[in-house]
Amino acid sequence: MTKELLTLRVNGERHTVAAEPHHTLLEVLREELQLTGTKHGCELGECGACTVLADGVPILSCLTLPVLVSDVEITTVEGLADHGTLHPLQSAFAEEGAAQCGYCTPGMLLAAKALLDTNPRPTRDEIAQAISGNLCRCTGYTAIYEAIERAARSAKAT
Ligand code: FES
Ligand code: FES
Repeated sequence: MTKELLTLRVNGERHTVAAEPHHTLLEVLREELQLTGTKHGCELGECGACTVLADGVPILSCLTLPVLVSDVEITTVEGLADHGTLHPLQSAFAEEGAAQCGYCTPGMLLAAKALLDTNPRPTRDEIAQAISGNLCRCTGYTAIYEAIERAARSAKAT
């Protein structure tokens, strides 16, 4: 199939890429932009591994056609650190041992960022609700909840 030119704004940079018109945002991020932090999981909208932010709102990139988000700012996990300094959520996940295999972690981090950006001091229930679409097979979630709470306590959490 003939590739088509497509413009995306990702992590503060504008990109024009040639992509198969039927490819999802997940495929374009990973295959055309080499942003492989966003993970392939179920590709059915059920696991959250492919979560990215569109103007700060979590979306499932496996179910999104890039043309539908060409005019919004996409944030992937590669966009969280600031010039080599980890985002408070990334530090908190490391400190709390909230990543084991790590496959769910990029999606978790972005879902948590969207939560803290709109609700800086969420309750445990609000955290659970915010990441309810992100499945983790490893941690049992407690460490993830505690990491998000740790980041929320950080004055620098953004
Ligand atoms: S890979 Fe997108 S929801 Fe599972
Ligand atoms: S850390 Fe392995 S799936 Fe969450």
